[in-house]
Amino acid sequence: MANYRIALLPGDGTGPEVLREGVKVLNAVAQKLGFTIDTVEYDFGGDRYLKTGEVLPDSAVDELKKFDVIYLGAIGHPDVKPGILEKGILLRLRFELDQYINLRPVKLYPNVYTPIKDKGPKEIDFVVVRENSGGLYTGCGGFQKKGTPHEVAIQEMVYTRFEVDRCLKYAFELARKRNKDKKLTLVGKTNVLTFVFDLWERAFHEMGEKDYPDITRDYAHVDATTMWMVKNPEWFDVIVTDNMFGDIITDLGAMIQGGMGVAAGGNINPEGVSMFEPIGGSAPKYTGMNIINPLACILAGQMLLDHIGETKGAEILEQAVIRFFESKALPGLSAKEIKESGWSTTKIGDVIADYVAKI
Ligand code: IPM
Ligand code: MN
Repeated sequence: MANYRIALLPGDGTGPEVLREGVKVLNAVAQKLGFTIDTVEYDFGGDRYLKTGEVLPDSAVDELKKFDVIYLGAIGHPDVKPGILEKGILLRLRFELDQYINLRPVKLYPNVYTPIKDKGPKEIDFVVVRENSGGLYTGCGGFQKKGTPHEVAIQEMVYTRFEVDRCLKYAFELARKRNKDKKLTLVGKTNVLTFVFDLWERAFHEMGEKDYPDITRDYAHVDATTMWMVKNPEWFDVIVTDNMFGDIITDLGAMIQGGMGVAAGGNINPEGVSMFEPIGGSAPKYTGMNIINPLACILAGQMLLDHIGETKGAEILEQAVIRFFESKALPGLSAKEIKESGWSTTKIGDVIADYVAKI
């Protein structure tokens, strides 16, 4: 019987509440399919930082490297200066575990309200492969004459051919595996960022021509992409893009699939330890109220199962979520709607876990 060791990082705000439901549903899947999971919880986040001054000790990073996978709630605390926890925990783990892919599906489930109301589950089903280790996120740059009227601030967009190639390879493979339109769209800004995206574009066509002749290649500028994601989301199958553009367009992706309540993501190191998380933040104002939507975190659990090779479990979990949406039991995905309709974080987790058992 397979056993998986999962590190839990509940984090800040509503993170612990949604992660609890995610783990509940994973356990339901495990019980049904006869595998087991061992979880170890770590309390890194704002509260611990405020109490002890410690963000993430080196020893914890080494410990986390020994798990099969990491399941994360949310990072970000209203009493901690922005950047300290985000950089010190989330980005540090992404970088040190070399999770060079950030995988973010954009998929509309039945009965989920999307602002682009004429598009349905058939039209909105694509995946964004966001490069997750380089670009503007590497912290290259600095200040000169800081604090003076002549201050200069520089933040550089740095990519190596190696980083670009390994990300493109993942994206091409995914387009093949999904077997939907077999189409990969490179999103960039070749008309302005003429160095970095020149490299991306050359690498994209070279690899496509040589190794993936079965995959159709397409290119779109990032600004136009935001338009098409709303106007013609059905044009997309797999999108591959750099770290910064990927960050921006996946918030838009989250909105067209119904909102942060349903948007999941994976920080993937195909050869190492990966980490799965809901895309939304820690929603501090809803902390402890049991009204935050756990579906994004539960769907991050689906991606986690798929990643560790429990594909059947991942399918069952997604079927349970689809059944839940099809029942039209939930009027909307926001905390406010959950509260007003008498649902709760835990109740949604209970129902999904129950569906998992019955499927
Ligand atoms: C995300 C977040 C992070 C990012 C922040 C919290 C550092 O916005 O996961 O998309 O920019 O990558
Ligand atoms: Mn983001």
